[in-house]
Amino acid sequence: MTSTAQQEISVSSSSGSRPVSKDAIINLDHGDPTMFESFWKEVGEAADITIPSWRTLSYFSDVSNFCWFLQPEFAHEARRLHNLVGNAVADDRFLVIGTGSTQLFQAALFALSPSDAPEPMSVVSAVPYYSSFPRITDYLRSALYRWSGDASKFEGDAYIEVVCSPNNPDGSIREAVLKSSNGKTIHDLAYYWPQYTPITAAADHDIMLFTVSKLSGHAGTRVGWALVKDVEVAKKMVKFIELNTIGVSKDSQLRAATILKAISDGYERPDVQTKPGLKMFEFGRRLLSMRWQKLREAVKASGIFTLPDFESVHCKFTGETTEACPAFAWLKCEREGMKDCADFFKKHKILTRGGGHFGVESNYARVSMVDRDETFDLFIERLMSLR
Ligand SMILES: Cc1ncc(COP(=O)(O)O)c(C=O)c1O
Repeated sequence: MTSTAQQEISVSSSSGSRPVSKDAIINLDHGDPTMFESFWKEVGEAADITIPSWRTLSYFSDVSNFCWFLQPEFAHEARRLHNLVGNAVADDRFLVIGTGSTQLFQAALFALSPSDAPEPMSVVSAVPYYSSFPRITDYLRSALYRWSGDASKFEGDAYIEVVCSPNNPDGSIREAVLKSSNGKTIHDLAYYWPQYTPITAAADHDIMLFTVSKLSGHAGTRVGWALVKDVEVAKKMVKFIELNTIGVSKDSQLRAATILKAISDGYERPDVQTKPGLKMFEFGRRLLSMRWQKLREAVKASGIFTLPDFESVHCKFTGETTEACPAFAWLKCEREGMKDCADFFKKHKILTRGGGHFGVESNYARVSMVDRDETFDLFIERLMSLR
């Protein structure tokens, strides 16, 4: 196996599991959103779903819709939730369902790249960019598009710029850095929900990607959705998904619709909840803000690292003025001579993702903030002991 191929392997024996002892490996490399487990245990039956064996046999969901494999229940609940939260314009937009937003990202690249261009379309994103963007763009060595790195350094006027906001890995709020009229954008808004960041306006971009993975923690359900302005682009995205997987699991869509419904009901119809008063965004924000406070204290005590600061901003959804609580901590090693932050953590049995994956120096490392309490608390304990 080549060293590049080895580098691509991202699943380890500690992925997805709880640390079993005080000195166990702490895996915070992935953004595995298991912190939501305790919320959904509280919600209980109100978000459960039973799918009878005779249902979901057909490939087709709604042949009158351009996205013929989209379950209408899901589309309804996704629009309802956007309208409740106010984070994106969802009415009068074409909704495309995908097997995670990972599939929709590829569908969008396919849709935005001309099939007859002499050269592949350049795909760019400002550093530090989400580590999967270059890998997904290039793994098939497509003749349609290719990864061209940091958007800020790109010269030319034909490109697809991926804008991730709030940004993975550093939590910053972003806008496109390139402004050519020939350029296209894909906005990955996976984290534009009130538990992570104040909602300042309803986003209204050409292609916006969302995912239940980061919204509610149901990453294993593998459902994402895109809100698309242009019907022709939306139709090409549907064509990609048709060719790639002949649609998207209906079982997963029904489950995701039930989850989204339970979230909205928590605000709009508390009477139908098994336990009234369960509000997912409040749960997420409370937990994340406690974690960020603990992390900032531990980082300060260590004297080794720094973290980005976030301005307090008014959130239109909660009505409060709050700081962002991103799903990842973007740590910078400040100690003289310590060049590889992820390697330093690894020596202390903490798995993180180093800056190189995000297009920057290796004195940065990304740490997941959305794992289970046991894992996060053990991480803080170990961080406190680092000198
Ligand atoms: C910015 C961003 N987009 C997309 C994804 C993947 O989403 P999905 O699980 O829906 O494929 C992630 C997962 O970490 C992410 O951080």
